Amino acid sequence: MTLQPPAKLMPWFLLSSVVLFVLMLLVCVQDHRRPWKPYQRAFIELERKAAKTPAEQQSINSFRMGIRQIEVPSLGRVDRCTTCHLAVNHPDYADAAHPLRSHPDTGHHSFEEFGCTVCHRGNGLATSADEAHGRTSDATSPMLPASFVSASCLACHDLNSLPGVENLKTGRCLFENNGCQTCHSLNGTGGLIGPALDGVGQRRGIDWMIRHFKNPGAESPGSAMPPVQLEDYDIERLALYVSGLVDPVTDPFFTSKKVLPNPQAGRDLYFNRGCIGCHQLEDVGGNIGPDLSQLGQRGKASRLRFVLETPLPNASMPHPKLRPDEREALISFLINLNATDFKAEE
Ligand code: HEC
Ligand code: HEC
Ligand code: HEC
Ligand code: HEC
Ligand code: HEC
Repeated sequence: MTLQPPAKLMPWFLLSSVVLFVLMLLVCVQDHRRPWKPYQRAFIELERKAAKTPAEQQSINSFRMGIRQIEVPSLGRVDRCTTCHLAVNHPDYADAAHPLRSHPDTGHHSFEEFGCTVCHRGNGLATSADEAHGRTSDATSPMLPASFVSASCLACHDLNSLPGVENLKTGRCLFENNGCQTCHSLNGTGGLIGPALDGVGQRRGIDWMIRHFKNPGAESPGSAMPPVQLEDYDIERLALYVSGLVDPVTDPFFTSKKVLPNPQAGRDLYFNRGCIGCHQLEDVGGNIGPDLSQLGQRGKASRLRFVLETPLPNASMPHPKLRPDEREALISFLINLNATDFKAEE
């Protein structure tokens, strides 16, 4: 009895180990070539260069390469965009090239709670740029170009109360004034010649819509829809609004601010309740209290809410007695003063 295998099996053993070796090599090469790896390597490289203290170097050494994801169960989303867009929260990367550039301020929408695709669309699970951005021919959800992202705000917010989004508001006027609803219904009102437009932003990408509005027959042969007679920039604004027609989010956390506190009302309170008497705002006002011009920066809303809610025993500021809606309006006015870098559109 020997432990040697029978001699006639030896060539097979040899062959199977060679096959195994080749397979392992292939796996390694494939792994090395994963489309997100170069960006993670570039990130590590940049971090190494920037590291000054031993603690910072330590933290780079503990960086683990791999797929990152943000899960948002209440929105039914798993977004892996941060596998490549690693520095969205990283202020030092404001001038870096994509995908390593830091994100413009998103106010109260934290990436941990919102993920990415609820605003950008695209394919959250994908880990290659073309698939994630929905550029492949079989893409089900093309990403919105950056200047069209404000279409997504409508999934959660009432348009009238949204600050800023002027192109979106113009888009709605164009929709209302160009007879679209003689043929299309929306929320149960309108004609029946064309399909209902509820949820159309989920079915049709922005590029298709723009082409279709200019020449419906070319996209839908035999279409009864007349070409939209508007300048290109108005066609784009119309398409921006129509892309915002998606099934509304229903989760109570995300719809808690459906109607946003109106910053205009907050501005009026600021002047009428005497805040201006003690605080400077853009060089106007008293100087008994601190200048409030910089409050729009990230993270200040909670401080503001605290100050306005809680009467402090030794504070030199009289406690402003505000109703909750007044308080929110004031906060929204003050934090939106500097929110220019979260402009939703050009
Ligand atoms: C495999 C890496 C990778 C993944 C995954 C990825 N991106 Fe990107 N992204 C890039 C690269 C590279 C660029 C810059 C070049 C380009 O546009 O392709 C970019 C650019 C962008 C831009 C700006 C350019 C534009 O076209 O407007 C946005 C917005 C963006 N990505 C959003 C997302 C979102 C949202 C996701 C997740 C659904 C995502 N990305 C997933 C690599 C990635
Ligand atoms: C609350 C909505 C919202 C969420 C959530 C969000 N973004 Fe954005 N994002 C925007 C808006 C709006 C802009 C455009 C800002 C501008 O152009 O002024 C933008 C811009 C970008 C850009 C730059 C595009 C350019 O052309 O420079 C990238 C890249 C990007 N987002 C990626 C992401 C990724 C990755 C996530 C998730 C980690 C994410 N975003 C989450 C709203 C959002
Ligand atoms: C998935 C739902 C959702 C989407 C999409 C969304 N928001 Fe919000 N938004 C919220 C919620 C929830 C809050 C309140 C967050 C909080 O106070 O913690 C909020 C707060 C705000 C506020 C109040 C000020 C602040 O930052 O707290 C503004 C302004 C705002 N959103 C604008 C926008 C714009 C512009 C877009 C589109 C780029 C957008 N939102 C997209 C859910 C959403
Ligand atoms: C005379 C009737 C008529 C008018 C007016 C009209 N449409 Fe249409 N529309 C149609 C018909 C019919 C279709 C289906 C065939 C096609 O795709 O072109 C359609 C298709 C569409 C679609 C694609 C719907 C889907 O589910 O794929 C969109 C989006 C749309 N129209 C938007 C508009 C807008 C915006 C306006 C106003 C500027 C407008 N339509 C005016 C008849 C009309
Ligand atoms: C009589 C003068 C006075 C009036 C009126 C007043 N404040 Fe103040 N406020 C102060 C002073 C002084 C401080 C400095 C902190 C302290 O000691 O209370 C302060 C602090 C603050 C802070 C904290 C700033 C920070 O950076 O932490 C906020 C926010 C604020 N006030 C907002 C308001 C608003 C909004 C109103 C109007 C409803 C208002 N204040 C009315 C005097 C005033």
